Amino acid sequence: MMENYQTPRGTQDLLPEATRKWQKVEDLIRNLCDVYGYEEIRTPVFEDTRVFKRENDSSDMVNKEMYTFSVHGEDSLTLRPEGTAGVVRSFVQHKMYGRLEMPAKLYYMGEMFRYERPQKGRYRQFNQFGIENIGMKSPLIDAEVIALGYSIVKALGLSQVKVLINTLGDDESRAAYRGALREHFKDSVSELCADCQRRYEQNPLRLLDCKVDNEHPSMQNVPSLQQYLTPESKAYFDQVLAALDALEIPYEIDDKLVRGLDYYTHTVFEVVSTHPESGSQATVFAGGRYDGLVEYFGGPEMSGVGFAMGLERLMILAEAEQVELGEEDSLDVYVMALGNVGTLPLALATECRAAGYHTEFNIQPRSLKAQFKSVDRRKARVAVIAGESEAANHQVNVKFIEQQRQITIDQDELVATLDAYFQAEGEEEA
Ligand code: HAM
Repeated sequence: MMENYQTPRGTQDLLPEATRKWQKVEDLIRNLCDVYGYEEIRTPVFEDTRVFKRENDSSDMVNKEMYTFSVHGEDSLTLRPEGTAGVVRSFVQHKMYGRLEMPAKLYYMGEMFRYERPQKGRYRQFNQFGIENIGMKSPLIDAEVIALGYSIVKALGLSQVKVLINTLGDDESRAAYRGALREHFKDSVSELCADCQRRYEQNPLRLLDCKVDNEHPSMQNVPSLQQYLTPESKAYFDQVLAALDALEIPYEIDDKLVRGLDYYTHTVFEVVSTHPESGSQATVFAGGRYDGLVEYFGGPEMSGVGFAMGLERLMILAEAEQVELGEEDSLDVYVMALGNVGTLPLALATECRAAGYHTEFNIQPRSLKAQFKSVDRRKARVAVIAGESEAANHQVNVKFIEQQRQITIDQDELVATLDAYFQAEGEEEA
């Protein structure tokens, strides 16, 4: 006896009822990317571990959640936990920075892997749609990137979302702020969790992200990063906000928003759902600017900005907000078989399909009544009936279901007959 195999923890099967809806959403996303001038990039699902694990990285994603392995003693590989690092690696590897037209505008969709504790909206294998705008630095681009994500959420019909935004400033601002945080937590750090003790040394900004200690008294009156911004960083942020105002995208400044990944500089944002069913995993898409990544991978000093959207979360919210997505397609044609007609139903169906009609055919011998039931269930518009006596004369019966009208035609007139019928139908609808 085989055991009862199930999907691994934190993963799920998407069955056709679901993939139908996913494809609708993916189409909408691809369309909007096209409108905004983003082109698709596909990078490997696994990369050299060092692509993700950069020196002294303090994020949970890198330190605790990566699926890292090595096969036959070769160099360590990691299943991608996110898309940005691989895209920037590719940007540098293929010297996209040498293009005449900057910035490079890239988007991706695909599976990401993080060893996290699974719950609703949080999986170990999940799908992100993400964009990266690399090669230029301007507050207008930061706002444009947010606008694309926001327009996707809006085009889907989700209404209960809000944009949270903050700035981490430049290196100088963050260094000053880290100093202030070390000072602030200096007496309480020994009471915090083991992770926070590591974060205190490595990158005190991460302390603000701790899920364990967020109720600790020392977390209450934390100094704000705003006070440590250099004038240039403050001016940059003000311009991002002004651009969002101009686009009429509402936002809230959240000065505790630091984001869970290490590469961010300047603008960071999270777009969260306020729908009660979104629960604790409410962030639909999130991202920010990164100044040092291109250089890290060996490219020139160039900045980038982007976000990633969790598609599972988007689908959960679409359901919660009762957005209508993809019903099962009805059939154009169902080919029935009466008597011993051999391969004729398959041949006719193949012809209809070649002409672009969504077609099924009857496979096993069944009564006419049973076959008409299938026509009904599949909501076929036309039934093609391959009968023994008609077949002998190279003929076939065609029944237009809605009109309850049946005709007999030569087999080689089938596609022309269907064309005429569906064209007339189309004109009637228009
Ligand atoms: P992130 O915040 O780690 O950012 O993930 C972005 C989004 O991916 C989250 O807001 C969430 O919707 C989804 N997500 C993350 N983890 C899971 C999970 N375990 N299960 C389901 N959904 C999840 C990034 O990944 C950055 N690469 C974003 C970025 C692009 N920054 C700049 N460019």
